[in-house]
Amino acid sequence: MSNASLHSLPSVDRPDAIARLRDALLGASFTADGLLELLSAPAYAALARSEIVPALRATRGDTPLETLVRLFLLQQPVPHARVEGVLPVDACLEDGWLLRVDGDQVAAAVDVRPYGGPDGEDWFVVSDLGCAVGGAGGIGSRDEGVVLGVGGASTTLAGITVRTPVSAALDLGTGSGIQSLHAAQHATRVTATDLNPRALHITALTLALSGAPAVDLREGSLFEPIRDDETYDLIVSNPPFVISPDARLTYRDGGMGGDDLCRTLVQQAGERLSEGGFAQFLANWQHVEGEDWQDRLRSWVPRGCDAWIVQREVQDVTQYAELWLRDAGDHRGDVAEYQARYDAWLDEFEARKVKAVGFGWITLRRTDAAVPSVTAEEWPHPVEQPLGDTVRAHFERLDYLRAHDDAALLAGHFKLGAEIVQEQVGLPGAEDPEHVVLRQNRGMRRATKVDTVGAGFAGVCDGSLSAGRILDAIAQLVGEDPVLLRDRTPAQIRLLVEQGFLDPA
Ligand SMILES: C[S@@+](CC[C@H](N)C(=O)[O-])C[C@H]1O[C@@H](n2cnc3c(N)ncnc32)[C@H](O)[C@@H]1O
Repeated sequence: MSNASLHSLPSVDRPDAIARLRDALLGASFTADGLLELLSAPAYAALARSEIVPALRATRGDTPLETLVRLFLLQQPVPHARVEGVLPVDACLEDGWLLRVDGDQVAAAVDVRPYGGPDGEDWFVVSDLGCAVGGAGGIGSRDEGVVLGVGGASTTLAGITVRTPVSAALDLGTGSGIQSLHAAQHATRVTATDLNPRALHITALTLALSGAPAVDLREGSLFEPIRDDETYDLIVSNPPFVISPDARLTYRDGGMGGDDLCRTLVQQAGERLSEGGFAQFLANWQHVEGEDWQDRLRSWVPRGCDAWIVQREVQDVTQYAELWLRDAGDHRGDVAEYQARYDAWLDEFEARKVKAVGFGWITLRRTDAAVPSVTAEEWPHPVEQPLGDTVRAHFERLDYLRAHDDAALLAGHFKLGAEIVQEQVGLPGAEDPEHVVLRQNRGMRRATKVDTVGAGFAGVCDGSLSAGRILDAIAQLVGEDPVLLRDRTPAQIRLLVEQGFLDPA
């Protein structure tokens, strides 16, 4: 890997100096809240789109916070004298956080970005310069070893991760260390791996500068750095999932061909999970001509694991190629080169008979159940993050359903989920609705069509009466045979429980 054009990284060997730097950053309110106040929401949001002009305009003064924003976020050189009152500048120069440029100016060697933790923690994420924002903004660097900061994918994974206290967590492909930073709050032991040694160094910087405990850093591909006898209660990975014709950028191109890297990751995770443990991945998968994407994904699920696969988006191959060409900044370069690369992406998809690419989340939970439950569904609609509790509850409900046959289900008691409303859909002015929809305002924000029995049933579920008793009452009301109603309704109740409209009381 050639890192020739990348700066050397700050030292991790002087924790006391990093602690002083952290204190200085906090002292100047270089925090997520401080930034929002200084920059205002539009300029702050523009930064997330890799646009720095609004933030440059908001930092024309010379307060300590403006100085730090210019240095670490906007990567502008700042006079040495101006930094002196804000940071332990000589120690920062010595340890490699700052570099001398143009005589009396200093510049940052890495991007340092305030990041607010879920409980109001003031954290800092370190990444390579110009790479704080991932995604389609264009990272503008073609160096394969470059380490990106927090992007939309990083926060999505952090949001869906189940946050119950665990003893051992694994962050595979740690990059800037953001997932390890989160995991360190609820896991006694965290292992962070990466193929790229630069990422491991940057993870150590992110953790130290955030005041988080150090983690066990291991270099290597996929599960290679994990010993055969090691298992984890939580495995998270935002892997290099991009399906591309080459392996140009380590942070995104898996280099295994097609969606093989994601498949391998999912297949091998089963053996690395402790009983009851969760593995959570972001992934991309191929939609191959003549193959159902759900079948493809189901075939990846390792033995002994339940799985919940959510396809959040599908792009055709042209949209997909353009997204990642732009991500690498290729659209800003030579036109002929851009077109040749675009062609190479389409060649690759054609050879693999790929029509489109799915983006989504894969969660595994190791249960060793005789009959695993595997759900592969499409849910492209907005959800309410963080979803960690929703994910945990989904698997708990699966356990319940697995343990209860229809007779047991009718003897069970249920409660309507939080913030669920009923919507009647039909032509304006019509007396009766064409159908009734139950809608969740929390979590996955699902909507599901129900019949009048389903709606009536859900409405009565406050945990006091058994499902069977409720159905008997409904049968009497609508003049239906209670035996028939008890016979046909469990399937609907199962679906409502599975999707979180009803919780076992
Ligand atoms: C998309 S980044 C994710 C970084 C970070 N975990 C996050 O959520 O923002 C993927 C990371 O996986 C690493 N990586 C690439 N190929 C790998 C492999 N075969 N095994 C382990 N890590 C790999 C890259 O170096 C990069 O740091």
